[in-house]
Amino acid sequence: MDKLKIEGGKKLFGSVKISGAKNAALPILCAALLTDEPVILHNVPALHDVNTLIKVLQQIGVNVEFNPHDPENITLTAKNIKSPIANYDLVKKMRASILVLGPLLARCGHAVVSLPGGCAIGARPVDQHIKGLQAMQAHIEIAHGDINASIHNLDKKLQGAKIVTDMITVTGTENLLMAACLANGRTILENAAREPEVADLANMLVKMGAKIQGIGTDCLIIEGVEKLHGTEHKIMPDRIETGTFLCAVAAAGGEITITHTQPTTLDAVLDKLIEAGLEISIEDNIIHAKMDKRPKPVNIKTTEYPGFPTDMQAQFMALNCISTGASTISETIFENRFMHVQELARLGANIHIDGKVAFVNGVHELQGATVMATDLRASACLVIAALAAHQDTTIIERIYHLDRGYSHIEDKLGILGADIQRIKE
Ligand code: EPZ
Repeated sequence: MDKLKIEGGKKLFGSVKISGAKNAALPILCAALLTDEPVILHNVPALHDVNTLIKVLQQIGVNVEFNPHDPENITLTAKNIKSPIANYDLVKKMRASILVLGPLLARCGHAVVSLPGGCAIGARPVDQHIKGLQAMQAHIEIAHGDINASIHNLDKKLQGAKIVTDMITVTGTENLLMAACLANGRTILENAAREPEVADLANMLVKMGAKIQGIGTDCLIIEGVEKLHGTEHKIMPDRIETGTFLCAVAAAGGEITITHTQPTTLDAVLDKLIEAGLEISIEDNIIHAKMDKRPKPVNIKTTEYPGFPTDMQAQFMALNCISTGASTISETIFENRFMHVQELARLGANIHIDGKVAFVNGVHELQGATVMATDLRASACLVIAALAAHQDTTIIERIYHLDRGYSHIEDKLGILGADIQRIKE
């Protein structure tokens, strides 16, 4: 397993280009299942999770063409779906494979998708996905670890329904949104997730001929149509990668320019970074950020969009670890998203957990050590902390977690002046 070796204490200077958003690319790739015509995608990020999902789609029978001159441009054609099945060997690697369930069921009238297991950050059940599809008259049986979904209606089509999910669920909203596009009649999704990635998916579905109202709100109204056609779409920039680089410069110090991003999708994060002392200026899709002092402590509470995103919680904790005082971080979305705390403690951080709240006392400096990545955002947190461990060496193990959601992060940070190298094992 590869490792990262980081010599801390180097400030960051220069410009970094943000890649396409992982959490927009994954549902959008699955949406290609809804039509037999080509779907041409641009700005697709080079991530392990994207590669895994492409394999799932190819197993199902989707033809995937890669542009030899542009690795971020792919064309998917789901003309002949040979087997509407997503099996365990790939689903276990990437739980977002559940996003093929809604489209496959709507397109083929039946689907078998392996039940995603839990993951490091929580149990992450998919009961709301299933509840919503059942409301649309899908027959769902869970047996031997598989979700067996089928439609018994004579026309083999899902029926529009009014659905109120028990909690706000991002991929649950996306699964049901995609299924509703080809259902008979109107579907109302209340308590829908408002994350920008949901809107990016919805905007592409509209370009494919879907009839969707309320995009960006917590109530989506979908009028089912007979068929969707192909389209061309550019994946939105990754707001979490953007926030991660902003936390990196806030922790390491320096002055960077972030390009090809979308500042309007991370207001809550920008507000908290400004409160921490990061100097930020914005022009169109560019963010300039400068930090020349220790960060101030900032209290964080993760909530659904447009609140502070849970996917930025670990990265901000690394910043609070070297701040000038005490802060609290409340994680309200996932029940086990503090796995990075014990690893930060190995770097000299002073953190106490009480239930869903982490109490952080800033220390002047972190020390280098060998630490272990436990999940995607935790690994980004450890990179940020290592950058701030002045004149010290940190080794981060199991960085396959990092590769799932960040495209060549060590190259991007290296260009900014970080002393970071990948040790291939
Ligand atoms: C999406 O996960 C993201 N992944 C996650 O990003 C992100 O952390 C999360 O939304 C919250 O913003 C993708 O979009 C691919 P949820 P998702 O359903 O959809 C509970 C990253 O680091 N729940 O919104 O799986 C669930 O357990 C990843 O990029 C149910 O109980 O999250 C959680 O407590 C990590 N039953 C809460 O709801 C359900 O059927 C929110 O989960 C669905 C969810």
